[in-house]
Amino acid sequence: MDLILIKNGHVIDPENNINDKFDILIEKGNIRRIDKNIEPFSGCEVIDADEMIVSPSFTDIHVHLRDPGQTYKEDIRTGSMAAVAGGYTTVVCMPNTLPALDDASLIRYVIEKGEEVGLCRVLPAGAITKGRRGKELTEMALLKDAGAVYFTDDGAPVMDSHVMRKATEYAGSIGSFVADHCEDLSLSENGVAHEGEIAAALGLPPLPPEAEDTMVARDCIIAIHTGMPVHICHVSTKVAVEVITWAKAMGAEVTAEVTPHHLSLSDAEWLDFDCKAKVSPPLREEEDIEAVRWALSSGIIDFVATDHAPHAHHEKMLEHHACPPGMIGLQFALPIVLELVKKDYFDMKRAIEVLSTAPARKIGIQPPSIVEGRKAELTIFNPTESWEVNEESILSKSKNTPLLGRKLIGKVKYTFYDGKIVYKG
Ligand code: NCD
Ligand code: ZN
Ligand code: ZN
Ligand code: ZN
Repeated sequence: MDLILIKNGHVIDPENNINDKFDILIEKGNIRRIDKNIEPFSGCEVIDADEMIVSPSFTDIHVHLRDPGQTYKEDIRTGSMAAVAGGYTTVVCMPNTLPALDDASLIRYVIEKGEEVGLCRVLPAGAITKGRRGKELTEMALLKDAGAVYFTDDGAPVMDSHVMRKATEYAGSIGSFVADHCEDLSLSENGVAHEGEIAAALGLPPLPPEAEDTMVARDCIIAIHTGMPVHICHVSTKVAVEVITWAKAMGAEVTAEVTPHHLSLSDAEWLDFDCKAKVSPPLREEEDIEAVRWALSSGIIDFVATDHAPHAHHEKMLEHHACPPGMIGLQFALPIVLELVKKDYFDMKRAIEVLSTAPARKIGIQPPSIVEGRKAELTIFNPTESWEVNEESILSKSKNTPLLGRKLIGKVKYTFYDGKIVYKG
């Protein structure tokens, strides 16, 4: 279809301050006109976006696509399908693959595979250390040249503070940054569930919040002293929020993300003894959830990242020690963020900012924007439509989420990438 007219949508684009009803005419993939009341003409496909929101597409800087090495959990095609169904057109995949993405050829492999699938932009993060073993730094400059958008050993923390300091300086000096999975392994030990009443009542090995909080503090201090950027992955505790608040006030170049599950689910998910609740960092208590919500509202937490972590059914059926941590998230971020809008933590503009503009800017890509002349890269969603999370509606290869069987409100209807419709819901 050469001409597509999106009629009556509420267009919200934080990039150029649009927040109003407009019609959008797309010709050969390019946004030709944004105006009130564009009349449909013959040969034009009309999308009725009445009651819907049209926004720039979303960016997720933290997903696990499991390629190479564990494509029985997810692959770049199924991961891309889940991404566009969630309204995303850019995803950054984590280097905790087999082998780890610690070499330029592996970085290029992921980019090429993503382009082959062609549904969205798939950008890799490179490993901080060789084999993610925490000892020897990777050739970050070469990885960056090959297309790595930042560096992390995610899945594991960089335990050695000297290595972390060197990595922060090196990444910063080449115009990139490190992101840390903050977990002091000597404190988390064999912990399975957040240390609190629920873990105690159920007899689950407790994982104390200090494991996260002390590491966030260390990384913030490294950011302060080196003057280089540090990004904190999946912030989940109230104390970590306070530490980040302090570091930002000190002028540190610290940024932080929060996952949809830490914004919405508590350790009460363990009450049915199902390891679908197992994730790293663990689901916390109400006070923590409240803290990360307000931090996202105020900007102390900069944006949402899903930490989409697919695992196979047989793996999530293992007993709690053996079961790998992680839950999927690409299709749930929008409804969970919309729920926070409904509960008045922030407005719709901030919702779009945390899903789209802010994460895109963090990885140095031009945020998608709804302006005349640009290629269409936008998401049309119905903020009031409800849908059920089940094996059919989940497009990921893995279905590991405590949300199975529940209803969510907020549904992506169309995702445009590179001028084309890549998802229709
Ligand atoms: C992630 C995974 O499965 O790779 N799991 C998780 O619980 N979040 C690793 C990670 O993000 O730390
Ligand atoms: Zn992690
Ligand atoms: Zn992760
Ligand atoms: Zn046990």
